[in-house]
Amino acid sequence: MTRIFSGVKPTGHLTLGNYLGAVRRWVTVDQHRAEALFCVVDLHALTIDHDPARVLRLSRQAATVLLAAGLDPEVCTLFVQSHVDEHTRLAYLMECTATDGEMRRMIQYKEKTASERQRDRGVRLSLLTYPALMAADILAYQADEVPVGDDQTQHVELARDLAVRFNQRYGHTFIVPRAVNPPVAARVMDLQDPTAKMGKSVGATPGIVYLLDEPDAIRKKVMRAVTDSGTEVAYEPEERPGVANLLDILAVCTGDRPEELAGGYDSYGALKKDAAEAVVELLRPLRTRHAELCADPGYVDGVLRAGAERARAMARPTVDAAYRAIGLMPAL
Ligand code: TYM
Repeated sequence: MTRIFSGVKPTGHLTLGNYLGAVRRWVTVDQHRAEALFCVVDLHALTIDHDPARVLRLSRQAATVLLAAGLDPEVCTLFVQSHVDEHTRLAYLMECTATDGEMRRMIQYKEKTASERQRDRGVRLSLLTYPALMAADILAYQADEVPVGDDQTQHVELARDLAVRFNQRYGHTFIVPRAVNPPVAARVMDLQDPTAKMGKSVGATPGIVYLLDEPDAIRKKVMRAVTDSGTEVAYEPEERPGVANLLDILAVCTGDRPEELAGGYDSYGALKKDAAEAVVELLRPLRTRHAELCADPGYVDGVLRAGAERARAMARPTVDAAYRAIGLMPAL
């Protein structure tokens, strides 16, 4: 059976970008067609300047939101990364497999170092080695597929390269995984700056729709989305990124193709109104279920406890095999 692994980083409240680019397909497709593991990757949240209490709160919130979105612990495994030591054990072996040049070439590293430097906080070494930990997340579970938004594809490709290299050097140990992007909305853009990704770590701005936003807040944000000075609605991501972004968002909600949807509108206002209502309706059940789950924290704890146990049992044999293959003496 195909094995799937993916994760979210608790560095901010989950956004519409996370949902359309990744979570929605985990819920509707992936968990039903494969043996699927989904992880709140809290160790990754420590790679940039962080507030411990906030990371803790956001980790629990991310797990709750994923359940509210429809992950079913009866059919998939949901857990928190730091609960399973195998991730950090294997990350070190990945650091011994990767080169520093490979790490420095990562787009996310370049972007994040620039923003951390701007804030004059120094760049944590773990930001550089981030992809080694991410490769360990994936390879520890022998995942075949990694469903992610467009921005994570480069990291998954590096995980692939590391798996191939490790296997060649030390004998076949890992399945070589591949990234899978959604057909539409693999990169949801910021509503106020449609040339930038809608990212949860940038702080609250009117360009970001959070999954737990009130319906009226969502309407306001979508209605105020930056488009361009034209009037004709056409799907041209390069020339009209703002309009294309709204069409992508609406297309995922309705199941249509963005190019076809464009023909049905003669004004930006009408498109925004429909996109706003579609997003409100898409997220309504999630909000309701989230409120229910918040009233039952014991349930969420139980899911995470059982998830970590299952994940540990799955990862341990592979990580032990990797330790042996690379030349480490088994514990006596
Ligand atoms: P993270 O937490 O930034 O994002 C979680 C998922 O949401 C997708 N995503 C988007 N998709 C479309 N448009 C957007 N604007 C948008 N923003 C985010 C991301 O592509 C991702 O699929 N490094 C990862 C977490 C991670 C991971 C892993 C993922 C750690 N280990 C192993 C897969 C496998 C990250 O920071 O995702």
